[in-house]
Amino acid sequence: MIFNPFTVARRLRKIGLIGINQRNADYVLRYNKRQFYPRVDDKLLTKKLAIEHGLPVPELFAVVREEHEIKEVHAKLAEREKFVVKPAHGSGGDGIVVIVGRRGDKYRRSNGVLMTADEFNHHLSNSLSGLFSLGGQADSVLIEYCVEFDPVFDHVSFRGVPDVRIIIFQGYPVMAMIRLPTRMSDGKANLHQGAIGVGIDLPSGRTCKGVWGNELVTEHPDTEHSIIGMDIPHWDQLMMIAATASEMSGLGYVGVDIVLDKVHGPMILELNARPGLAIQIANGNGLQHRLEAVEKLKQLAPTAAERVAFAREHFGTV
Ligand SMILES: Nc1ncnc2c1ncn2[C@@H]1O[C@H](COP(=O)(O)OP(=O)(O)O)[C@@H](O)[C@H]1O
Ligand SMILES: [Mg+2]
Repeated sequence: MIFNPFTVARRLRKIGLIGINQRNADYVLRYNKRQFYPRVDDKLLTKKLAIEHGLPVPELFAVVREEHEIKEVHAKLAEREKFVVKPAHGSGGDGIVVIVGRRGDKYRRSNGVLMTADEFNHHLSNSLSGLFSLGGQADSVLIEYCVEFDPVFDHVSFRGVPDVRIIIFQGYPVMAMIRLPTRMSDGKANLHQGAIGVGIDLPSGRTCKGVWGNELVTEHPDTEHSIIGMDIPHWDQLMMIAATASEMSGLGYVGVDIVLDKVHGPMILELNARPGLAIQIANGNGLQHRLEAVEKLKQLAPTAAERVAFAREHFGTV
């Protein structure tokens, strides 16, 4: 096939694919006030706000703020088999350690590797010193409940919890994908760690297209199960949670990450003020037309339920 850059550019424009500069200039800078960033950049604060707003989040087991607290944390976790260690200001899955069991006084990570108490302490110490935080600022560490994912994802997830990312613009869901951990992503669902992104059709809550790195995929590379045509459980509730969480954040353009726990149902993991753009590839569709459709509304609907209903009616993938 002859590669014609003009045809490609025209096609990209037609589907309304937006690039990083446009996202920043037209949406992030315009709709996200600086003063609200801490609400989403600090995972401890996000959790606190979510609880205040009656939104479900994984239970907080412990917080480590100072070096001397590191040694005490083992006793606090003595009764816990599974938990997740997470830098409060981390991003992209960096610094997150998913512990799924123990062997003697060692901890077992989701990739099967054992971690000694010393290695664990060292990791906490690195996190406190800002190794994983934006700009290298000193950080705190959260230790929280390890989500047990809903069995519908058994065949399409490799040792980790898939999460659903929903982009909310001025309170309206505009695009969604589910991210599936792979062997490469070590229990995490971040695309840069090697997870797969699968687009979700907003009206039906059904998965449509997948992307793994630069590759379009229809099957999970580790389990070989199809990732297309899956119905996301509790779909309406997920969109309602995301639309409500965006209100709590004060941000006009925000990505809300939700996980589905087998026992507790949907729970918010985190919010992002600068959600990535690969979601467009995973959906085979650009964000621009949808964002413009919301911008054109004469009046924004006051309730999350109305905004979710609007999205279901207007933002189909096909
Ligand atoms: N409590 C948890 N239980 C199980 N897996 C988790 C938990 N928290 C995070 N993860 C895994 O790690 C990934 C990244 O976590 P997240 O809180 O979104 O931080 P980041 O800002 O680094 O993306 C999630 O997508 C999920 O796969
Ligand atoms: Mg995340």
